[in-house]
Amino acid sequence: MGGRRSSFKNRFSFYLLAIGSACGLGNLWRFPYIVGENGGGAFLLLYVFLALTIGLALLISELMIGRYTGTSILAVTRHISTQTKKKYYIFGWFSLFISAVTLSYYSVISGWVLHYLTQFIMSLFQSDSEFYLKSISVNVLLQNSWLQFMLASVHLLVAAVIVVKGFGEGVEKRISSLLPLFGMLVVVLLVGSLSLDSTHSVLRFLFYPDFSKLSWSSLGHAVGHVFFTLSLGFGTMVTFGSYLKSEDHLPTIGWRVTLVDTLISIISVLLIFPIAFSSGKQIATDPSLVFDVLPSFLSSIKGGILFGLIFFLFLWLAALNASIGLLETVTANLTEKRPDMKRPLAASLSVISILMMTVFPAFSGTIFKNIKILGRSVIEIFDSILINIMLPMAVLGMVIIFFKTLSESDRKKLFINDEFPTSVAMYSHWVFFVKWCVPVVIILGLLMLFVGIFV
Ligand code: PHE
Repeated sequence: MGGRRSSFKNRFSFYLLAIGSACGLGNLWRFPYIVGENGGGAFLLLYVFLALTIGLALLISELMIGRYTGTSILAVTRHISTQTKKKYYIFGWFSLFISAVTLSYYSVISGWVLHYLTQFIMSLFQSDSEFYLKSISVNVLLQNSWLQFMLASVHLLVAAVIVVKGFGEGVEKRISSLLPLFGMLVVVLLVGSLSLDSTHSVLRFLFYPDFSKLSWSSLGHAVGHVFFTLSLGFGTMVTFGSYLKSEDHLPTIGWRVTLVDTLISIISVLLIFPIAFSSGKQIATDPSLVFDVLPSFLSSIKGGILFGLIFFLFLWLAALNASIGLLETVTANLTEKRPDMKRPLAASLSVISILMMTVFPAFSGTIFKNIKILGRSVIEIFDSILINIMLPMAVLGMVIIFFKTLSESDRKKLFINDEFPTSVAMYSHWVFFVKWCVPVVIILGLLMLFVGIFV
């Protein structure tokens, strides 16, 4: 790890990496369906508000923990534990555990992306490519658990080889540098999608907030997704922060990363919903949304198959990038804890345990088909418990770690910068947000989720 700490020769590559970690399946796949599930405009407004307030405040704090300590989350919590003789390292382990579980779930969805990528490639060899693509359904995939498991394993193995070979960061940088290209592709698709007849009703659905559509669980869903999409609570941003140089101004960096991530989420709902609305089918409000609507739309427009192929390739690369980051976090923390353990062994152990967990989401449609809690399938329960409940709890731990690690003067030194006069005024707001608003909003969100189960 030591060699990686000072490796940001320019700030731009840091932005690419941090934005590369933040932007992934969370923006393009998860966000559209939770906006659909929570009724559209009012939820979108709530989400943007929370991202720009508690999300941003926390992102700055996580980067600051890393920048100040120069290490990863497990080492930070171990250090506080020895100093205070209290068991703070539990928070570090909890974050690491969440990274591993998230990676298992993320790999299954990345496997879906891989499946669509191969279908687009195969359609090139069919006499009627459009018919071929229209006939693939996400349901077929959902009922073929072994295929899902295999695709997830392939995805994880690719990530593991990159991490073991030690060129994780190099690959992450290279993939991240492709992101602007991906962004351009998404914008081109957006123009096509917004020219559909359904645009008027979509704009109304997304930007005319109807607060009666919010449910008891909406706050918890928005909070969980803000953390997931900004990669907060996992320790990833702590590690990234440890790579930064002293002259980098953390609030500015945090602000830019949050802004880009939020914009990409908004673009992705603007891209998906016109297609979903004009497809005439009932809009899916579950994980199948993007996979249901995009392929058939792409196959029916001119040059769409090539677009689709490139789109799913980029989407998979973005997912791979995030997965490398997560696996790297788990592996690096393991080797830091057990220096006698070689990297390949640490990575293999991580992959094996992660693969064991992928069984739950992968076999959700078959072996676990009959397990339904409140009408939700195993994969949806997995998603809910992980992102809406466990992640906010990990973030609460992060807030405690933050205040235990940095004193008032340390925080001031890293936040206030003469070049940015507003930083003086913003300082107390930021501390107030992290100390009070974040815990209150998290606890309220969790309580409301709980109440939502009974009403
Ligand atoms: N933020 C990523 C996304 O939205 C997910 C992720 C979480 C990636 C944690 C890395 C670490 O897809």
